[in-house]
Amino acid sequence: LKIAAVIPAAGVGSRMQLSYPKQYLKIAEKTVLQHTQEKLSQLNYLSHLAIAVSADDPYFATLNLQDERIVKVIGGETRADSVLNALRALQADAPDWVLVHDAARPLVTVADIDNLVQSCLAADEGGILAAKVKDTIKRGTSHIETTVPRDTLWQALTPQFFRFNELLQALTDAKQAGSEITDEASAMERLGYPVRLVAGRSDNIKITSPEDYELACFLLTKTGK
Ligand code: C5P
Repeated sequence: LKIAAVIPAAGVGSRMQLSYPKQYLKIAEKTVLQHTQEKLSQLNYLSHLAIAVSADDPYFATLNLQDERIVKVIGGETRADSVLNALRALQADAPDWVLVHDAARPLVTVADIDNLVQSCLAADEGGILAAKVKDTIKRGTSHIETTVPRDTLWQALTPQFFRFNELLQALTDAKQAGSEITDEASAMERLGYPVRLVAGRSDNIKITSPEDYELACFLLTKTGK
């Protein structure tokens, strides 16, 4: 069984208000992207690790990433476009399954990834790491319109793990339909595929705002995660 991974790392990270993308922020001498790549590189069952970076990215080449399975791919305008480009790059020697993991989530654990892969393969279904919502959730703009019952609410994390051909089809279809999707599962859901929710650690945060970065620095350095 052949499994590849895709790391979309072609975002600009505008919400961080930096002059460079957030995946190149440094935590303990290494960039966020390196921390993430090193987690995935620990998975010896991966055939390839495709990393999508933007066409004019001057930083990636300087990282000197140490894994012969890494394939650099040019990303697209949206995260979904970046993942689609990476899947197309892998198509010639296509894997059976693919893991997609945000560059901006360096705190993922190998144990959680293994758990996702094992539970999806055992069920023969795609799935995602997810964390149950802990806070009470409100819908509204300036004032609360409704309180959303949270017992069946989950935060979608990554990795997300799907059969390669099905994900390629689903992302291609979503793009053709002009559907704005923010994760792979959304594309699979559109086509009616079942997607498993596999509970993962809630500290697998996506670095989006400055306070996420502070938290990631603490977790990666102080606790040795
Ligand atoms: O913007 P957001 O935080 O949702 O990005 C999630 C991941 O997708 C990040 O790792 C980012 O680098 C990546 N991305 C991408 N191509 C884009 C936009 C985002 O690879 N056009």
